[in-house]
Amino acid sequence: MESSTYYVCLLSILYSAIIYRLLTLLNSSFQPRCHDYESSALLQFKESFTIDNTIYDGCYPKVESWKLVKGERGDCCSWDGVQCDEEANHVISLNLAKSCLYGSINSNNTLFRLVHLHSLNLACNHFNFSQIPSQIGRLSRLTHLNLSFSSLSGQIPQQIFNLSRLISLDLSRYYHGLKLHNPSFKDLVQHLTNLKVLHLSFMNISSKVPELLANFSSLESLRLSDCVLQGEFPVGIFQLPNLKILDLSYNPDLKGYLPPFQLKSALKSLILSGSNFVGELPSSFGNLACLEELDIYGCNFTGKIPYSLSNLDKLVYLDLSFNYFSFHSPSISSFSWIGNLTKITTLGLADFNLTGEIPSWLMNLTQLSVLNLRHNQLTGPIPSWLMNLTQLSSVNLGFNQPTVLSHLALPN
Ligand SMILES: *[C@@H]1O[C@H](CO)[C@@H](O)[C@H](O)[C@H]1NC(C)=O
Ligand SMILES: *[C@@H]1O[C@H](CO)[C@@H](O)[C@H](O)[C@H]1NC(C)=O
Ligand SMILES: *[C@@H]1O[C@H](CO)[C@@H](O)[C@H](O)[C@H]1NC(C)=O
Ligand SMILES: *[C@@H]1O[C@H](CO)[C@@H](O)[C@H](O)[C@H]1NC(C)=O
Ligand SMILES: *[C@@H]1O[C@H](CO)[C@@H](O)[C@H](O)[C@H]1NC(C)=O
Ligand SMILES: *[C@@H]1O[C@H](CO)[C@@H](O)[C@H](O)[C@H]1NC(C)=O
Ligand SMILES: *[C@@H]1O[C@H](CO)[C@@H](O)[C@H](O)[C@H]1NC(C)=O
Ligand SMILES: *[C@@H]1O[C@H](CO)[C@@H](O)[C@H](O)[C@H]1NC(C)=O
Ligand SMILES: *[C@@H]1O[C@H](CO)[C@@H](O)[C@H](O)[C@H]1NC(C)=O
Ligand SMILES: *[C@@H]1O[C@H](CO)[C@@H](O)[C@H](O)[C@H]1NC(C)=O
Ligand SMILES: *[C@@H]1O[C@H](CO)[C@@H](O)[C@H](O)[C@H]1NC(C)=O
Repeated sequence: MESSTYYVCLLSILYSAIIYRLLTLLNSSFQPRCHDYESSALLQFKESFTIDNTIYDGCYPKVESWKLVKGERGDCCSWDGVQCDEEANHVISLNLAKSCLYGSINSNNTLFRLVHLHSLNLACNHFNFSQIPSQIGRLSRLTHLNLSFSSLSGQIPQQIFNLSRLISLDLSRYYHGLKLHNPSFKDLVQHLTNLKVLHLSFMNISSKVPELLANFSSLESLRLSDCVLQGEFPVGIFQLPNLKILDLSYNPDLKGYLPPFQLKSALKSLILSGSNFVGELPSSFGNLACLEELDIYGCNFTGKIPYSLSNLDKLVYLDLSFNYFSFHSPSISSFSWIGNLTKITTLGLADFNLTGEIPSWLMNLTQLSVLNLRHNQLTGPIPSWLMNLTQLSSVNLGFNQPTVLSHLALPN
């Protein structure tokens, strides 16, 4: 090809690209992007609920602004909480968390026509104790599903297994209304193998935690608080390289122990309070360099508290209360290493049988807000410098020696 023809060709390609782009711009400014069936599905979804501002504190009714102007087609892609993809203009994301929606939701709800959804968040609404409709299986493109705190109940439908692309599933709630019995927890993780975030707190699971979860190398967050869990917790889960949040609290029939921790742990939050964890805290605890929250209140740990805990300088929340640790000298001064963890806002050292006076190393914890030293043998006065800890809002000194005042409640 001659070079001049080549340039003419190139220019005409450029021009047609520009003209095409202008035309699509013009087109999109006159024509709604939204597909008709999707805007009508959204409007019928809206109509199937009443708006009730009392169902969730601070809720805001996003759907109230959804409207079609008479005789015009509305662009649902611009509606509050709705997002469309750029190319095909399908509704791919619906975020109606805390939107004051009240009413039952059943299988003929038009929500399930939005088959292009990637992300659906209906958290913190009130679905009047409906079951999760089996039609949820039609939304097979979902990667994010959040139905937490939305007053759903009953058994999770089998059809949820159709959502094999799910990365994040949140079904947490306030009470044990949702069940995961048949299908079971094991069935769930066998089908949803891409999960990185799994929050099922307050669901009635009543089974073991499946061993298979220990193979979920991408798992980042697992919240199973108060799920009636049984059996022994698969120890491998603690060693998952990407796990940041692990909450297993208030499962008294769940047994477990802590393995040695690797140097590269990502763990930020380890919450085991009120579950039957036994054995010693591993000396490798100091390897959890990212740890911000450690709550083992009311477990059954024994042995010594490893000194390597003093390496955890990101700790914000530390509660070691009500275990069966043994001490050479049960003096509170043996905890002076905590004085180096200056980010701490909550500190629990209740039921250690600790002796001594309220220690001056507490002065170092300038962010301290909650202090629990109940059930010890502490003596002496309440020091005046405690008032210098300006963030302090709750101090519990109950059940100590009589010289220490019980329950000093500070303002704020
Ligand atoms: C809530 O559920 C009850 C019982 O199923 C039903 O009678 C009532 O109409 C429902 N209320 C709404 C707003 O859907
Ligand atoms: C859905 O089905 C129920 C009966 O199961 C019916 O009462 C209701 O009107 C239907 N709702 C819609 C939006 O079609
Ligand atoms: C599962 O998803 C496919 C599309 O990926 C759909 O054809 C099928 O009907 C869905 N099954 C159920 C039970 O919803
Ligand atoms: C689900 O939505 C609620 C309310 O917006 C939010 O607090 C929660 O973190 C969400 N869950 C996940 C796993 O993102
Ligand atoms: C959980 O479900 C089991 C089996 O249905 C039932 O026996 C148990 O009482 C439920 N537990 C709670 C706390 O709801
Ligand atoms: C986890 O993965 C390992 C290695 O790939 C495999 O041998 C093991 O059977 C898997 N565990 C489960 C419960 O599937
Ligand atoms: C600790 O162990 C005792 C005795 O085995 C048991 O009764 C108790 O429930 C356990 N604590 C927790 C939180 O599981
Ligand atoms: C606090 O940290 C400093 C510097 O890292 C160290 O020298 C000191 O021994 C620590 N104090 C306690 C009580 O662990
Ligand atoms: C208090 O904190 C300083 C550094 O902020 C540290 O050098 C000192 O050792 C700490 N005191 C105690 C008792 O940990
Ligand atoms: C607490 O300590 C006192 C003396 O320091 C001792 O007599 C008592 O047996 C201890 N109690 C427990 C439960 O360890
Ligand atoms: C507490 O604060 C007061 C006033 O800011 C100051 O005079 C005093 O030295 C402080 N006490 C201690 C122990 O730091």
